[in-house]
Amino acid sequence: MSKEEMILKINNIEVKYHEVILVIKGVSIEVPRGGIVALLGANGAGKSTTLKAVSGLLNHEDGKVTDGSIDFLGERIDKLRAENIAKMGIVQVIEGRRVFEHLTVEQNLKVGAHMRKPESRSIKDGLEMVYHYFPRLKEKRNEIAGFISGGEQQMTVVGRALMTAPKLILLDEPSMGLAPLLIHEIFNIITRLNHEEHISILLVEQNAKLALNVAPHAYVMENGRIVMDDTAEKLRQNPDIKDFYLGLKDVGGRKSFRDVKHYKRRKRWLT
Ligand SMILES: Nc1ncnc2c1ncn2[C@@H]1O[C@H](COP(=O)(O)OP(=O)(O)O)[C@@H](O)[C@H]1O
Ligand SMILES: [Mg+2]
Repeated sequence: MSKEEMILKINNIEVKYHEVILVIKGVSIEVPRGGIVALLGANGAGKSTTLKAVSGLLNHEDGKVTDGSIDFLGERIDKLRAENIAKMGIVQVIEGRRVFEHLTVEQNLKVGAHMRKPESRSIKDGLEMVYHYFPRLKEKRNEIAGFISGGEQQMTVVGRALMTAPKLILLDEPSMGLAPLLIHEIFNIITRLNHEEHISILLVEQNAKLALNVAPHAYVMENGRIVMDDTAEKLRQNPDIKDFYLGLKDVGGRKSFRDVKHYKRRKRWLT
């Protein structure tokens, strides 16, 4: 695919925290315009750090892109401030569905509107769009966000991201801690946002099964490196992916997490 067709290009980046802790090494990821790409990997692999490198939120944690570059719509963004990156049309939904607990649902949504390009659309139009995709939030709009369910909080943070009128959403583990039915509902809406609003999505998930259902292409990250990238179809067939991420491989009973971890540590992806 040519360069122009990519909305996001992460080129061989290295990320350090506190100038010394090297957590991302030589990572390259591409997201096509209007596409959904998944970034899979176990806890601590460096997925959230990668998203923060793109959104600029890394700076708030004393982290830095120390090598490589990141291009968004052909413009280099890795030296920009988070506020300016947001105005260009990138929004990150951070993990853990952090709502402003003392504000109502609608007030939470309106916070997102302040991060958009003011000329992009009115707050009223933004709310209308969010309520169209999340009718449940319309019902709950005057409730205090700290008291709604976990699923509704996740919808609120995705809705807040939509209020910024984004071109690219960086979505960090939207399924975490939610009941299957709700996960299904949220992933349906994510797919619709991609199809109907043409919003590009870089989706981070530990749940590979879910992610490979919505993303046609995925990258696998381990210890701060990309160890594999392929179509969802191919990854689903890959024995290592089946074993570690999909839990499908039958090797005489279910492996304990510890066995898998142990095997994984010995395993050499990069030979
Ligand atoms: N603010 C930080 N300061 C120092 N180290 C961090 C910070 N945030 C994350 N890390 C470390 O970076 C590594 C990757 O973390 P993270 O990107 O959160 O992984 P993931 O999202 O894949 O679980 C981990 O070893 C984690 O301890
Ligand atoms: Mg994370």
